Amino acid sequence: MNILELSARKQAGEKLVVLTCYDYSSAAILNRTDVDILLVGDSVAMVVHGEESTLPADIEMMVLHTRMVARGAPDKFIVSDLPFMSYRGDRQTSIDAVAELMRAGSHAVKLEGIAGNKKIIRRIVQSGVPVMAHLGLTPQSVNALGGFKVQGRDEAARKQLLKESLQAEQLGCFALVLECVPSDLAAEISQRLKIPIIGIGAGAAVDGQVLVFHDLLGLAGDFKPKFLRRYLNGGELITNAVNAYASDTRSGAFPSRQEAYD
Ligand code: KIV
Repeated sequence: MNILELSARKQAGEKLVVLTCYDYSSAAILNRTDVDILLVGDSVAMVVHGEESTLPADIEMMVLHTRMVARGAPDKFIVSDLPFMSYRGDRQTSIDAVAELMRAGSHAVKLEGIAGNKKIIRRIVQSGVPVMAHLGLTPQSVNALGGFKVQGRDEAARKQLLKESLQAEQLGCFALVLECVPSDLAAEISQRLKIPIIGIGAGAAVDGQVLVFHDLLGLAGDFKPKFLRRYLNGGELITNAVNAYASDTRSGAFPSRQEAYD
């Protein structure tokens, strides 16, 4: 998969499958799956590091996890999140952050919002780095949004989202993530734009879906937003496996003679 194939997919009406990935061993598994894009999301701060929001993710954290994923999934197209504030300062610092992610093995970067980011998006695109935009619920702005809430509900917010989506395309972004927006708005944006719209909580009438690895596999505790479909009860399976190991160890059933050296 490369950037040209990605845009051809939308034209062919084929959906894109995106999943977050944060570490080497998961990446090695996902490298053998039918997923199109691995997203080293700044959600790593919450899912892996146990933080309350994505704000504690910094460029060191993102570079570390990007490297792990790139080593494990050499055949996948990898997109890494530019973390909170890393692209809002001076131009050189923002470009350095992009360079670090690309050197760590990413093929593209993702950033949140269009307002205030137009110049830096243009600069990154002109530097030969594909940019994925992210609109709707933008978790780096959780404090300004008043929480993790559905966006684009009233007429003014819908117009603004549509406008910014069109701007993302005009600025040269190769794809757009729409998070937690009403399905009819996401559908309209998908129809109006040529670039693929990747939805999360944005309904089915978009060009692809993205989910968080741990949510999809049931590894994220009780976290179960409306849009999430769990494909595995991973937490329960792991608990049962570990308890079976504990029980076998205590009873002496593990290790057996076959599992020991003569
Ligand atoms: O960081 C992340 O995981 C994301 C996805 C939810 C789109 O940005």
